[in-house]
Amino acid sequence: MAFAIKVNGNTHSLDVDGDTPLLWVLRDVLGMTGTKFGCGMALCGACAVHLDGVAIRSCITPIDSIGTSAITTIEAIGATAVGAKIQKAWLDREVVQCGYCQSGQIMSASALLASKPHPTDSEIDAAMSGNICRCGTYVRIREAIKQAAKSIEQGD
Ligand code: FES
Ligand code: FES
Repeated sequence: MAFAIKVNGNTHSLDVDGDTPLLWVLRDVLGMTGTKFGCGMALCGACAVHLDGVAIRSCITPIDSIGTSAITTIEAIGATAVGAKIQKAWLDREVVQCGYCQSGQIMSASALLASKPHPTDSEIDAAMSGNICRCGTYVRIREAIKQAAKSIEQGD
């Protein structure tokens, strides 16, 4: 079945089954492998992307549910103001260990700060609770989100 989806500002024409998860369209059809497969059941957050600015789980999002909504992936999040701050904070705080979960972490964190520029600790924990890190980088993730929020506030 033919679909046209908008990813990172570009429209792509696809011929896939309507129930194909967005994750597999991104990775296998479009070759955008920054978005990761973890559990395939909306349990780990590795596959998070933005749909009209909201973090969603691409592993359980069928392509026929997307319509004209705009998809943003880890490949383009650095082009957004909040995404750039998040990525800088991630580097400054040396958040990453193995890295497997981190594109999903960054997508959830950037969606949080875009909608809530001054999150409390509990709001950070609530927003990030669906993103699992087997390396246990949670403390540095929270520090990096706070650094990015401060940087946005100060207009650095
Ligand atoms: S791969 Fe989608 S939530 Fe785990
Ligand atoms: S950095 Fe290894 S799983 Fe999160």
